[in-house]
Amino acid sequence: MSHDPWRMGFHLMPPAGWLNDPNGLCQLGDTYHVFHQYSPDWPKQGAPRGWGHFWSHDLVHWQGRSRGFAIVPDTADEASGAYSGCAAPFEGGARLYYTGNVKEPGDFDYVRAGRRSAQILIEATADPAAPGGLSLGEKNVLLRNTDYPAFCTRHVRDPKVWREDGSWWMLLGARDLDDCGLVLVLSSKDGLAWRNSGTIRTTKPFGFMWECPDRIALDGREWLSVCPQGMENRPWANGVRDQSGYLPLSKGETLGRTGATELDADLFRLWDHGFDFYAPQSFVDESGRTILIGWMGMPEAGFAGAPDDMTWCHCLTVPREVVAGKDGALLQRPVHELEALRGMRHELVGNGSLTLGEHRADVLLAHPEGPLELLLDDALVVCWDGAELALRFTDKAVGCGRAERTAACDDLRNLRILVDSSAIEIFANDGELTFATRWFPRLPTLTLSQRGQALLHIWEMGDGVAGTYE
Ligand code: FRU
Repeated sequence: MSHDPWRMGFHLMPPAGWLNDPNGLCQLGDTYHVFHQYSPDWPKQGAPRGWGHFWSHDLVHWQGRSRGFAIVPDTADEASGAYSGCAAPFEGGARLYYTGNVKEPGDFDYVRAGRRSAQILIEATADPAAPGGLSLGEKNVLLRNTDYPAFCTRHVRDPKVWREDGSWWMLLGARDLDDCGLVLVLSSKDGLAWRNSGTIRTTKPFGFMWECPDRIALDGREWLSVCPQGMENRPWANGVRDQSGYLPLSKGETLGRTGATELDADLFRLWDHGFDFYAPQSFVDESGRTILIGWMGMPEAGFAGAPDDMTWCHCLTVPREVVAGKDGALLQRPVHELEALRGMRHELVGNGSLTLGEHRADVLLAHPEGPLELLLDDALVVCWDGAELALRFTDKAVGCGRAERTAACDDLRNLRILVDSSAIEIFANDGELTFATRWFPRLPTLTLSQRGQALLHIWEMGDGVAGTYE
């Protein structure tokens, strides 16, 4: 594994097998927990999917289970997978809520019949001897398909739970019988017995299914984060079926807690404009920061998640701090803790290039004067022409089928680029626009070339995950 040029230094990836959605994000005392969707036996057909687990004291250096599940899909209610879910801190530990997915054998469509979606609870209690200091208790099924409103299909999943003013609230992603995506809102006095208490829809239909709903609350305002499916024909969707973004609520309005909430789909903004970003989840840490982590992968995207010879697939974004911007926008910035990995600093002013010995860098570009092109390894161009910010692969093999992504940007004030072997994250204008992408460069070194007039600070970056599986 140490010879694998695509292993990263500050992005979480599986030791082997497949990773998707971040799950169960939380901070409990001095430990951050990142669970995730995991199939250790990928690429074997039908490899079981459960939860993996990483933990960290600083969001930079991580430990994880070397192999195997934190949540094993071993009961009849999750026979086809322990799907996505969340953590709600509780009595020094956390309650983990997730979806047990079952596809019954037989001739079913799995939309209206043959699928079961149960919401399951595991109490995670503090235990210094357990991995990450958390020992996971027994599984309790809290909700089954008969408990959801009658207008729902069999697609109901991805619980997000939080506590507020003495009540517990749950969001569930759903698909109704008219094939419209929506969010179910449930409430509970104890986090155990739940009742349906509201819905969140858009005034106009917006996709056939909504996955991974989440609630962002900042400065007295709320946002619904959601992953609508069925977006491929929208002009901004690059032909990709599944998208991930957020919808702002008006000030004072709350997500479904007062019955039916209707949101304006025209206000939907993408979380990220890159090739590889889906199913993000947020949590509020003990200092009050809202931190978002996304899956750097994409279902049904039309390009490869990994080159054929890879034995592991996908990674998560770095933790991004989310703050409220102007006009309902949310800004995302890498958490400041990552700066601890910065090593030697270089500068590049105007036209020129620089080669680093490792394939990792933190690049900060300030004061661009006029159009700009940054070339990474002669394979990928980050380019600003005064109207758009673009990410363009000039070497299609390195992009593994990825070609170009753009976002409108008529004023570029600054740019931060995190390069981490096979992952790149770009943050423009203090996090107004972000681009996450995978790429698969074969060189052990990293060459950055600039065409244009800007000052680049370039830090070499250390490796915070080298010891993850020790
Ligand atoms: C999103 C998703 C979720 C589901 C999980 C299964 O990527 O489809 O809706 O719970 O992945 O791995």
